[in-house]
Amino acid sequence: MDKLKELSENGFYIAKSITPISMHKEIFLTFYDVLISMISRHKIRTDFQIKNIEDLNYPDDIKELDKLVFAVSDFNRELMGELYDTVAYCSAFFKLIGNPEIEKTARELMSLKSYSTMYSVTHRIRMDEPKDEMRRAAWHQEIFHSYPDTRFLQTWGPVIRNSTVSNGTIEVCKKSHQHGVVDQDWEEFKGGGYAQRIIVKDEIVKKHEILQLEMNIGDVMFFDRHLIHRSGYNSSNEIRYSQVGLWNDCSYKGFRTPKPAFESRTFSPRDNYDMQMKKIRSQ
Ligand SMILES: [Fe+2]
Repeated sequence: MDKLKELSENGFYIAKSITPISMHKEIFLTFYDVLISMISRHKIRTDFQIKNIEDLNYPDDIKELDKLVFAVSDFNRELMGELYDTVAYCSAFFKLIGNPEIEKTARELMSLKSYSTMYSVTHRIRMDEPKDEMRRAAWHQEIFHSYPDTRFLQTWGPVIRNSTVSNGTIEVCKKSHQHGVVDQDWEEFKGGGYAQRIIVKDEIVKKHEILQLEMNIGDVMFFDRHLIHRSGYNSSNEIRYSQVGLWNDCSYKGFRTPKPAFESRTFSPRDNYDMQMKKIRSQ
């Protein structure tokens, strides 16, 4: 079936083997490198010998990476947010999401021209740790996790290792996009791992057949903003790494670029200025 027809009928289209394995190795090394810096910066003790990055084999040593994530997460859960933010703006990640095949497929699926501008929103690599019910994404539609009055296509794909039913691959409600926006509840932060969740009502989910979509690294799924989806439960002992993000059509009339808001994790420019000036002037 033609990809556009598949997207409009099923609400999703999976492009097979479009990102190279070498890219996943690069992302694997990026995570490892950032984690090594974090462990050294915060003097985190581990009960295992950390393997030298230069001696790592990919994919055989993915478990070595999991061990570093667990060590940092156990030491201070807040550092995971910093890890997310670091990877999301590093050059290797830009290369992954800027992959020409992803770009070409997204344009084709939105019926855009080869020169049409697509704007990236909330592209991230999710890390879903084993047995983490608290941070698992519940049934939702992406529409309320983005900006109003935009036209976008969502992407999801396994990174570093394949996504399986056991490690909690993405689940979708078959053909649910056909009903547009459905009834859902807005839940504010309750001390868990999320700021808020907008959850589709159970009785709506129950009307659909649920598909658990296993994918291999290299595969990228493109899906409709109304498709009801969630993270599966990670019942394995490994981390599921996945790329998530939205491509927005910049030519769409309602599209207005959101203002990026960067905030220092340490001092503000003003704090820094005050400290430096105080030092100079006291000399
Ligand atoms: Fe989502």
